[in-house]
Amino acid sequence: MISLRSRSVQETHALASAIASVVRPRDMVVLSGGMGAGKTAFTVGFARALGVNDDEHVSSPTFTLVHTYSTGRIPLHHADLYRLGSLGEVADLGLREQVDLGAVALVEWGDVAQAVLGDCLVIHLENDLDDDDARDITISVRGHDWDARWERLRDAVRTWTVQS
Ligand SMILES: Nc1ncnc2c1ncn2[C@@H]1O[C@H](COP(=O)(O)OP(=O)(O)O)[C@@H](O)[C@H]1O
Ligand SMILES: [Mg+2]
Repeated sequence: MISLRSRSVQETHALASAIASVVRPRDMVVLSGGMGAGKTAFTVGFARALGVNDDEHVSSPTFTLVHTYSTGRIPLHHADLYRLGSLGEVADLGLREQVDLGAVALVEWGDVAQAVLGDCLVIHLENDLDDDDARDITISVRGHDWDARWERLRDAVRTWTVQS
């Protein structure tokens, strides 16, 4: 596990961008953490780093479930499972299939659906009770997709690393 500290929304954008630099087609990324933790903010920084066009405005897909951005170096599917009722509904979104075809998915509240989403990078964001602008962020992984890239990932986020 890698533990990071963000002190502003700009830092969250920057560290998301650093993570995006190590991401490749077929990566599933789960974003966990409560309301307002910064999952959508993370996605904004991540999408920009993939080169998603500024006029593809990145916003929360809470009501539409999935937004797809196709102008970056990898097709990006951004989902928010907060309102989904069952694992079957999550499966129906076809996120795993899209990822297996060569896309990347960022899935807010995806931790509840890991059985359907499969192997993934898990980014957990946590508010700080004493500092509105700070977040404690951890990176962990399910499966072996990241074994060969783990040290590169560690290097990419070194600026924000704290001892865990
Ligand atoms: N360090 C930080 N990282 C991310 N967001 C932050 C941070 N500090 C303050 N914020 C603010 O917290 C809010 C996070 O909202 P959002 O990304 O929509 O959360 P979520 O998608 O997890 O519900 C935004 O208004 C953002 O500006
Ligand atoms: Mg959100």
